[in-house]
Amino acid sequence: MTSKRPGLAVVTGASTGIGAIYADRLAKRGYDLLLVARDKARLEALSQRLNAETGRKVDVAIVDLTDPAQLTALAARIEDEPDLTLLVNNAGMSADGNLLTGSSEEWARVIALNVTAPTLLSGAAGRALVKRGKGAIVNLASVVALAPESFEGVYSGTKAYILNLSIALARDLGKSCARVQAVLPGVTRTEIWERSGKDLNAFPSDWVMEAGDLVDAALVGFDAGETITIPPLADEDAFEAAQAARVALLPGLSRAEVAPRYRTAR
Ligand SMILES: NC(=O)c1ccc[n+]([C@@H]2O[C@H](COP(=O)([O-])OP(=O)(O)OC[C@H]3O[C@@H](n4cnc5c(N)ncnc54)[C@H](OP(=O)(O)O)[C@@H]3O)[C@@H](O)[C@H]2O)c1
Repeated sequence: MTSKRPGLAVVTGASTGIGAIYADRLAKRGYDLLLVARDKARLEALSQRLNAETGRKVDVAIVDLTDPAQLTALAARIEDEPDLTLLVNNAGMSADGNLLTGSSEEWARVIALNVTAPTLLSGAAGRALVKRGKGAIVNLASVVALAPESFEGVYSGTKAYILNLSIALARDLGKSCARVQAVLPGVTRTEIWERSGKDLNAFPSDWVMEAGDLVDAALVGFDAGETITIPPLADEDAFEAAQAARVALLPGLSRAEVAPRYRTAR
């Protein structure tokens, strides 16, 4: 007899915000959970609530994902986890100011959390899922991956990295029956704004999505098998056209000959 249970989902950054909502929705879908973050009290409170409400097994892992040793240990645990079917790479941060005004140590932490951690965890989970021939990785990117002109560059760069990684990982997973989804939220009401010294109220109210709406929409995209999901974007055709225009450039991007406008007189 085959089990209909969906298996184990690992959610990083599950102590609050978008990650805590993913934990709630996934438990209600029947997943067992491993919730990862640094705040033990918040994780344990969420774990107890979800276990009581859904009967699912909900474990917590207190991990600072910017710490290389803790990250390596979590990646090994994920790769060895026999029931793993879903990894949600959600933990992320921004920082105050920009590259010229902010703290270099803080930007290094942003890169460690937003780039290094999801990269190593995606690799570990990807190898495990390919062996099993099923499962998925969800990577939280951002619409600012597409809009470096309108946001601070380090954060938007980390999110462009996640988008690129996800597109390439979808190709690498190929026909393995494991898959990847990049989710690109717009401005969403969570603590990330206050944590990075930014004022959410500075945005027009009709730009700001509630975290519950964001996750429910992302799961609609997940169920539809999307590789890229942009919950606020109504004009799906505009994004498809932009992607098609980018892909149309590919044949001309590497040539032996210098383009005519760059040729020097000999
Ligand atoms: N909110 C938005 O407007 C928005 C827009 C686009 C994309 N996103 C992306 O969506 C994802 C979730 O963001 P959010 O808005 O929900 O953020 P949030 O409310 O600030 O929550 C961030 C989560 O990451 C965890 N975290 C932070 N630093 C960590 C570390 N060093 N090690 C382990 N966990 C850590 C936090 O838990 P602890 O503090 O307990 O460790 C928390 O659970 C992020 O990747 C973010 O970039 C958000």
